[in-house]
Amino acid sequence: MDFLVLPAILLVISTVHAFQYTELVRYIDSHQEEYVEALRDWVAIESDSSNMLKRPDLHRMMEMVAQKLRPMGGNVELVDIGEQELPNGQTIALPKVVTAQFGNDPNKHTVCVYGHVDVQPAKLEDGWATDPYNLTDIKGNLYGRGASDNKAPVLAWIHAVEAYQALNMELPVNVKFVIEGMEETGSNGLDAMILAQRDTFFSDVDYIIISDCGWLSRRPALTYGTRGNCYFYAEVEGPKQDLHSGVYGGTVIEPMTDLIGILDTLISPSGKILIPGIREAVAPLSDEEWKMYQDIQFDLDNYKNKIGVNQLMYSNKVDLLAHMWRYPTVSIHGIEGAFSDPGTKTVIPAKVIAKFSIRQVPNMDPALVKKQVTDYLHLVFAKRKSPNKLKVTMVIGAKPWLADTQHPLYEAGKAAVKRVFDVDPDLIREGGTIPIARTFQDVTRKSIIMMPIGGFDDGLHSQNEKISRYNYIEGTKLFVAYLNEVSQIKKSGV
Ligand SMILES: *[C@@H]1O[C@H](CO)[C@@H](O)[C@H](O)[C@H]1NC(C)=O
Ligand SMILES: [Zn+2]
Repeated sequence: MDFLVLPAILLVISTVHAFQYTELVRYIDSHQEEYVEALRDWVAIESDSSNMLKRPDLHRMMEMVAQKLRPMGGNVELVDIGEQELPNGQTIALPKVVTAQFGNDPNKHTVCVYGHVDVQPAKLEDGWATDPYNLTDIKGNLYGRGASDNKAPVLAWIHAVEAYQALNMELPVNVKFVIEGMEETGSNGLDAMILAQRDTFFSDVDYIIISDCGWLSRRPALTYGTRGNCYFYAEVEGPKQDLHSGVYGGTVIEPMTDLIGILDTLISPSGKILIPGIREAVAPLSDEEWKMYQDIQFDLDNYKNKIGVNQLMYSNKVDLLAHMWRYPTVSIHGIEGAFSDPGTKTVIPAKVIAKFSIRQVPNMDPALVKKQVTDYLHLVFAKRKSPNKLKVTMVIGAKPWLADTQHPLYEAGKAAVKRVFDVDPDLIREGGTIPIARTFQDVTRKSIIMMPIGGFDDGLHSQNEKISRYNYIEGTKLFVAYLNEVSQIKKSGV
């Protein structure tokens, strides 16, 4: 064999497999306007999953996702996940879940991208500066309901795959999609669908990617944990009907007084949870974790300004981040049956139901928390020697999720961020709950990464939600780069 041929062949092979990032970036940059138009079309659909009157729009939204994927040849399916029961006993069809698959090369890793295209409610009258369903570009920010949560990230993932296809480049990994339409109201029907398809659609999935959160600052971030949540109702029932405080006040033991009394024993003014056993269950803060928090870019004054307070529970960054992400907390949300209208009604409510929740972190266990809270409240209530009846129920018990930041999936994420943004990402956690992460982990036993592209100030769930063009377009590049980085993970590393 001619000794000169071999290096030539090797050169050819290595150019075929070299990652053509520059070409992909050029393609993405030159298709920005199309990407923005695609987002405009999606934002125009009022896919509010909490409003039954909008259910036809939601069905149409899922059909639009499928239509976007079909021309790309992605083996697209609209999976029927059944019906939802309404409080009045009627049933209504759940929006179908869109699944798709690009590539099925057994020699490649398979990633599964999860996203959602339903949105929170929004009305111009809520205080939006622009029509929430008419995407409006103001100084490089694209305003519209669902722009950041989660329509642009879903589109960015689709466009990332499309860019490879358009340039006739082989996808470095097989890519699957699971796009749902009920996330904002608790992902009704999705758990069952994941379980049902565990040994089919999910059987060859190696990694799950979720881009349904945001950065903490202007620096890109990877998210490695979310808190869970246990949501409780505490009901105190007394007289058989509401009473007049002038006529009966002073003679009856009032349910509201009992309820406020026991609620006040949940957490101290300085934020210490008083329910026995809760604080003891929390995983201790390690030195490495403490150090990680110190390195994170986070401005306390900005944070204070954003929420409009002049004092926070903690005055230093590490304590504040730790209590935002990795410690439990109690929030009291409201009291059903309490008089809350304007005016001065002199009522003694006969029955009141407090709503409160406790954010969950490792190593708390919702089943145990349910018992701890119920036992404690009954004990505290018994001391009051009240004739009223207390009933405590836990209506949501979502577990926390935590990933290993040393996992190759995160190393790949760091490399992709470095390539696109030329900085190291902040490794952050999310104080909120993304229950589906835990379901994916428990059911499929696969590793999960959360790779946000939304900005820290995108205003998810609130007025004037937006995503910046920068985050949307650079985010698309991040996903393109990430697919390549994941392909570099050794198969044995799965
Ligand atoms: C969206 O807003 C633009 C600019 O205000 C306006 O010209 C356009 O007609 C609006 N589109 C819809 C569908 O309302
Ligand atoms: Zn979301």
